[in-house]
Amino acid sequence: MKTLLKIQSSIFSDGGQSSQLADRFVAAWLESNPGGKVVTRDLAKEPVPHLDAARFAAFVSKPEDRTPAQQAIVNYSDALIDELKAANVVVLGLPLYNFGLPSTLKAYFDHVGRAGVTFRYTEKGPVGLLTGKKVYVFAARGGFYAGTPNESQTPYIHAFLSFVSMSDIEFVYAEGLAVSEASKQQGIARARAEVDRLAHAEREPEFAVA
Ligand SMILES: Cc1cc2nc3c(=O)[nH]c(=O)nc-3n(C[C@H](O)[C@H](O)[C@H](O)COP(=O)(O)O)c2cc1C
Repeated sequence: MKTLLKIQSSIFSDGGQSSQLADRFVAAWLESNPGGKVVTRDLAKEPVPHLDAARFAAFVSKPEDRTPAQQAIVNYSDALIDELKAANVVVLGLPLYNFGLPSTLKAYFDHVGRAGVTFRYTEKGPVGLLTGKKVYVFAARGGFYAGTPNESQTPYIHAFLSFVSMSDIEFVYAEGLAVSEASKQQGIARARAEVDRLAHAEREPEFAVA
């Protein structure tokens, strides 16, 4: 049985455009994976705390030296990582806020990017430990950025996820959502078509076997 982890980071929770695109993909994925398990992590409903020096000290502490408070911090991060490790497919709803990713998503990344747990340093450089996952990113933006020098999210998301070995990533963009109603409708329609194309591509191998 495959497991899909949906991480949504819109401040509008299920109502966000990025969340709705993610949901559309998940619905199609469930059709082709009827026994599949979907786990949702809504970073608006349950924000991950911002990383601070105390939390980081807990992450790098030796297990035998940890205070109960530090152990609780590590347990929380470990649970997020276990959830991620258990997923075969990761779906990420990604709004653009003030030229960047939502701070809640950055806080989440700060809790799952842990040396010795999700990546390790070797003599040949860092090696990611979260292998074998497919990632789908559904990005929603008010303006137009994809393929321009002002595109800040795609390189960052790609760099971070690849660092932990989640480098098999598909990006879908819904853009121009704040430009005009027509532009919004066009942006959403294009993104939905892309979602459907990817969902169909996911299904193809099963049809080939049958
Ligand atoms: C606080 C805030 C900041 C935003 N900043 C930007 C921005 O810098 N550039 C942009 O193109 N759109 C910006 N937008 C528009 C959002 O990208 C757009 O509403 C998108 O649908 C957000 O995704 P969501 O609906 O999943 O939350 C912003 C929206 C909000 C609420």
